[in-house]
Amino acid sequence: MTTSAANRRSKVARGPDILAHLPLDRRARVPLHQQIYDGLRRAILNGSLRPGQRIPSSRALAAELHVSRLPVLMTYDQLLHEGYLDGRVGSGTFVRASLPDDLLRALPVARRTPSETPRPRDEGGRRPFRASVPALDQFPHALWARVVARHAHAMTPELMSYGDPAGLGSLRTAIAEHLRTARAVKCEASQVLIVSGSQSALRLCASVLLARGDHVAVEEPGYPGARSALSATGAELAPVVVDADGMDVAALMALGSRVRAAYVTPSHQYPLGVSMTATRRLALLDWADRHGAWIIEDDYDSEYRYVSRPLGALQGMDGHGRVVYVGTFSKALFPALRVGYLVVPPQLWNDFMDAREAFDVFPSTLYQLALEVFLREGHFARHLRRMRPLYAARRAALLAGLERHCRGLLTVHNSDAGLHMATLLRAGLDDVTVVRRMTERGLTATALSTCYTGSRRRSGLLLGFGGWDARRIGDATGALGRIVRDLS
Ligand SMILES: Cc1ncc(COP(=O)(O)O)c(C=O)c1O
Repeated sequence: MTTSAANRRSKVARGPDILAHLPLDRRARVPLHQQIYDGLRRAILNGSLRPGQRIPSSRALAAELHVSRLPVLMTYDQLLHEGYLDGRVGSGTFVRASLPDDLLRALPVARRTPSETPRPRDEGGRRPFRASVPALDQFPHALWARVVARHAHAMTPELMSYGDPAGLGSLRTAIAEHLRTARAVKCEASQVLIVSGSQSALRLCASVLLARGDHVAVEEPGYPGARSALSATGAELAPVVVDADGMDVAALMALGSRVRAAYVTPSHQYPLGVSMTATRRLALLDWADRHGAWIIEDDYDSEYRYVSRPLGALQGMDGHGRVVYVGTFSKALFPALRVGYLVVPPQLWNDFMDAREAFDVFPSTLYQLALEVFLREGHFARHLRRMRPLYAARRAALLAGLERHCRGLLTVHNSDAGLHMATLLRAGLDDVTVVRRMTERGLTATALSTCYTGSRRRSGLLLGFGGWDARRIGDATGALGRIVRDLS
C-alpha cells in the first residue's frame, strides 16, 4: 500500500459518524438491510464517505444501529460484490479507492456545487510584504513545544472541563501585569477578558456597545477587519479622517450624538502609521465622556517602535472608564495562536461576560496555560527583546531597498513602528494594479486605497517587513521596483 493510501485509510468512519447516513425506519415496509444498503451507497456516491475511507466492522455498526448483525452483513456483502467496498481479511472494510465511473453515474446525486466561486485561499503570510506577519522563522519553536507538551501531559479532568469564560485566572493576572508595566494600562486582572484574537474582541465590542442603527466612528483610512467586525451587528460606519495627528476629533464631534463609539489605533494608526498626539487623545477622551460614548482602542502592534520611546496606551489616560482596550498576541508571538484580550471598564463587565458566553465561550485552555508560562517565566519578554533589533534590521533593509529600487516611484509615508510600512505611490500609479502584478510575481501587499470607505483615496502600498530576512527583503524590493517601473 502506498503511503498516501495508508494515510487515507487511517481515517476511519466511526459508527456514530455513519449513523447520520442511516436513519432507519423500523415501521417502514422496506427491509432493514435494504435501508442500510441505500444509506451507505448514497453516502459513497455523494462523497460523504471518501474512497479509501475505512468503515466500521459489521459487528460495530450492528451494535450502533441496535440491529442484529445479519442485515449489516448482507449489506456489506452486496456492496463488496458490486464494487463499492473493498475488504481485506484482518485489515477491515474500506470504500473502494477508485470507484468505476458507471457506479458514480448510478445514482443522480446532488453533489455539492458551490453557488459561487470560492474565495481564493489566504496565502497565510508566506509571500514577502504581506502586512502584519511577525518573524515566524525566529519564533522559539522548541521552547514553545516543550511548554505546550508539558501542559498537555499535565491536563487534569478539571482543566479539561469548562472553565471560566473570562479566561484562565493566572493568564489574566499575567496579562494585567504586562499591560500595566509595558503599556501604562490602568487595569486589574478582574477586567481582563481572554478572547480568540482581536478580531473576536471587536465582534464582542459590536454586540455589547452597538445597537442596530447606531453609528460607530472609524478611522478613514482604517483597518478593514475592524470595519467588518463593528458593522456585523447592524451598526453604521461613520468614517472620520486621519491626519498627521491621528483621528480628527473635531470632525468626529461634528457627527453628532448618534455616534455611540469610536474605534481608534492611537499607538500606530492602521494603515498610515501615525501615532495620535496627546492633545488629540485628551480631546477624544473628553468627547467620549461628554457624550457617554465608548472608545475602542486597538493596540495591535505596540511592542515595536523604532524612532522614539513607546507611547503609553490611551486607556491609561482615561479617568472616566470610557475606553475598551483591545490587544493581541498575533504580532508578538504568532497569529495562529488566536489569543487576544480585552480590558473592560468595570461597569461593562457583566455585559461583556454575557456576550462572551454566547460567543465561543473561551479559547483553548491548553494554549492559555502555555501562554501563561511564557509570560510568567520571562520567555515572552525575552522574545520581544530579541525581536526588536531583528525587526529594526528588516525595516532598515526595506528602507534601503526602496531607496535603491523605487526612488521617485514610491515614497515612505511612515515607518516609525510596527511590522509594516505605509508608502505612497507616484500620482497615476494605481495600487490595486500594482498589487495584482505583485501577486503574479510571488509577492503581495495591501493596497492602501482598499482601506478607505469613501471615494477620496490615496494610492499606496502597505509593505510588511516582519516576516523575511534582510536578504529576502532586498530581493523582493528589487522585484517590486521592476514592477512599479514597468507600470509607470
Ligand atoms: C489594526 C489591526 N488590528 C487587529 C489585527 C488582527 O489581530 P488578530 O490576529 O488578533 O485578530 C490586525 C491584523 O493585522 C490589525 O492590523
